[in-house]
Amino acid sequence: MKHRLTDRFAGAADILAEIDARVPDTRDHLAETRTTVDTYHPKRLRLVVVEIIDETSTTKTFRLEHPEALPLPPFLAGQYLGVFFDGTSRPYAISSSPERLDHYDLTVRRVPGGRISNALIDTVAVGRELTTTGPMGVFHHNPLFHGSDLIFLAGGSGVAPAMSMIREIVERGLDRRFRLIYGSRRCTDVIFRDELDTLAATHPGIDIHHVVTEPAPDWTGTTGLLSADTISALAGPLDGRMVYVCGPQALYHYALDQLTALGHPRKRIRFEANGAPSDPTRAPQWPSDVDPNTEVSVVIGGKSFRTPRNRPLLDALEDNGIRPETACRSGECSLCRIRIVEGEVHTAAEAELRLSDARFGYTHSCVAYPISDVELEL
Ligand SMILES: Cc1cc2nc3c(=O)[nH]c(=O)nc-3n(C[C@H](O)[C@H](O)[C@H](O)COP(=O)(O)OP(=O)(O)OC[C@H]3O[C@@H](n4cnc5c(N)ncnc54)[C@H](O)[C@@H]3O)c2cc1C
Ligand code: FES
Repeated sequence: MKHRLTDRFAGAADILAEIDARVPDTRDHLAETRTTVDTYHPKRLRLVVVEIIDETSTTKTFRLEHPEALPLPPFLAGQYLGVFFDGTSRPYAISSSPERLDHYDLTVRRVPGGRISNALIDTVAVGRELTTTGPMGVFHHNPLFHGSDLIFLAGGSGVAPAMSMIREIVERGLDRRFRLIYGSRRCTDVIFRDELDTLAATHPGIDIHHVVTEPAPDWTGTTGLLSADTISALAGPLDGRMVYVCGPQALYHYALDQLTALGHPRKRIRFEANGAPSDPTRAPQWPSDVDPNTEVSVVIGGKSFRTPRNRPLLDALEDNGIRPETACRSGECSLCRIRIVEGEVHTAAEAELRLSDARFGYTHSCVAYPISDVELEL
């Protein structure tokens, strides 16, 4: 006896006949999907420097456009681009507004002795093409969870994502309060000072407070570090407001202590570090009998080389012409993941590893250091 389900539904035979009569679908859905994904989340962008703005004596903004002046992929204020340069890469936050997709601005501060910040500032001229990642990162406003009354503690170049968030509020006319408490060493180090002050004066929802540690004699603003007292005085009661923190690694530990002292819950603090993770050899997990300056050997894909124990594995691989995918270089994005086949590796606390990574021997090479001779797999 036949048990066809379609026999039990009136009109089912007509529908089946109609389906059979349809022109076969020959579209390449996979390729179409790939094109759409690449348009919005490209792995690589070729961008041309169209303008360079001197922000302070140590900071320049590079304005980047598509070589054919096409619109750039959308991004969320707070996200960054990985910039590939001189055989390596560095992440830089987009400081321009997500409302304007004809360009991205990257605001780069010189780090004394730093390889790429100095190379960008000293050698890149208008007309130069740069390869970057598409916009990346999770350090951005989420209207559902973060609310519309926000505090941002910035240190140094950590003001770049805040600038993008502020420009977005202004240009999109968003109903959002934004209070920036921005710490700098000297008054002359304050990036975007004039624009920030003008926006604060003309937009009631935007409050800007500059705080300097080494004030000039004519400085009348707040001085010192971004301490609990300063935060309270400038932001008032935190009342569960979302607090973003962006700046050097040291600011994270300091700001976290200050916010904790104010009773602010950790889940209402979002952080992004604009510098390398703290010295791994000072971490409590670093074995006390291991000299960080001595070398170990690394074997990977049939190649072997020696590298110092205190050099991140990602840098060591790049030194030897091996280029894992990278973006954040701070342990967060997981693109630089490698498997440790053999040997011992110290992974900095900054690495946001999955629970399964430890079980199956994976780590994030940008914040992982070889303690012993190691064999790795990409
Ligand atoms: C998500 C993200 C966004 C970032 N956005 C910006 C940005 O908008 N603007 C910007 O200027 N930088 C930004 N940075 C920092 C940037 O990626 C580089 O780390 C920085 O430019 C230094 O690179 P370098 O090659 O010059 O120094 P390196 O040669 O990598 O480092 C040299 C030495 O300086 C130390 N160091 C590295 N960075 C810093 C720092 N910021 N402060 C103090 N010491 C440091 C290192 O520990 C090392 O010992 C961002 C970093 C991250 C992770
Ligand atoms: S590059 Fe992002 S985790 Fe290493």
